[in-house]
Amino acid sequence: MEQVNEKEVVLSVSNLVKDFPVGQSSKSNLMRAVNDVTFELRKGEALAIVGESGSGKSTGARILTRIYDKTAGDVTFKGEPIQDYIDKNGELEYARQVQMIFQDPFGSLNPVHTIYHHIARPLLIHKRAEKKHVAKLVYELLELVGLQPVKETAEKYPHELSGGQRQRVAIARAIAVSPEVILADEPISMLDVSVRLGILNLMSDLKDKHGISFMYITHDIATARYFAEKTAVMYVGHMVEWGSSDSVTQNPQHPYSQLLLSAVPEVGKSGRRELTVKKGEIPMWKPDSVGCPFATRCLKATEKCSESMPEATQIGEEHFARCHHL
Ligand SMILES: Nc1ncnc2c1ncn2[C@@H]1O[C@H](COP(=O)(O)OP(=O)(O)OP(=O)(O)O)[C@@H](O)[C@H]1O
Ligand SMILES: [Mg+2]
Repeated sequence: MEQVNEKEVVLSVSNLVKDFPVGQSSKSNLMRAVNDVTFELRKGEALAIVGESGSGKSTGARILTRIYDKTAGDVTFKGEPIQDYIDKNGELEYARQVQMIFQDPFGSLNPVHTIYHHIARPLLIHKRAEKKHVAKLVYELLELVGLQPVKETAEKYPHELSGGQRQRVAIARAIAVSPEVILADEPISMLDVSVRLGILNLMSDLKDKHGISFMYITHDIATARYFAEKTAVMYVGHMVEWGSSDSVTQNPQHPYSQLLLSAVPEVGKSGRRELTVKKGEIPMWKPDSVGCPFATRCLKATEKCSESMPEATQIGEEHFARCHHL
């Protein structure tokens, strides 16, 4: 048999598009929040989706958890179109396999229920354990996410925990049902800086030791590089650069990626490498918009940048960028 080095693809997205109605006249006026987005999530790997506010990161994740319908494009899960997978296995099974963790752990926990309840509930809903074994599993999960002593923690209510501890509960709840994929939408950005690394390291363990695939949504390209094997940079709904996190962060080619990286302080160097951009508007993308979305702010922009979206140019192995000036 042919030796395959690459890990198995768990979730793949091709040419994904999402339009939202703007204002009242919903049919004629649409904004394109996600445009032609293509990526793969492989078993036990993390893909970081990096981009500024409004670049379509959460919309992509919400399509994958079926909160939103896609406008166009294909999504496959374990090699099958998502709808076929659900027709065969059921919505509940897909929901078990693809879990989401949110930015605000307090908002995603119910204040009137104990931590025990939050973790026991998915175990029962998804029939992961008989009732008599649930307590043991809840304690094991609390231990796995570093919340000890487990019995005392289980009896607490969300407000009795710190932000970092609450995010650990949200993670325990997500992994209770043994998912294939976790979509983590800015999971550390609301937490105190001192506890962020602990959460990233916990997610790393779940990835490396338990084979869970992560989509890690963030504004912060530095943590993307720390946690994720692959990074995709988004700008106004478009993937402008993607590849291994090392290659994208050490050798960024798209002017927008270069701008993002210029804002990251470099260890051992004083100050930052300042990059400048034009003070152009960030465009609202529409279904009939053309050109590179960054053209309005890009110092390299020429006429063709406002006329057509560049094709992907290969920079290195698996590293691509879409810019006319490569
Ligand atoms: N339900 C919706 N209805 C209409 N427009 C929406 C809806 N959800 C998102 N949008 C728009 O789609 C665009 C992308 O939003 P999205 O939330 O995906 O961005 P984001 O990259 O996650 O931003 P942030 O970093 O601020 O979370 C934004 O312009 C947003 O206003
Ligand atoms: Mg978001």
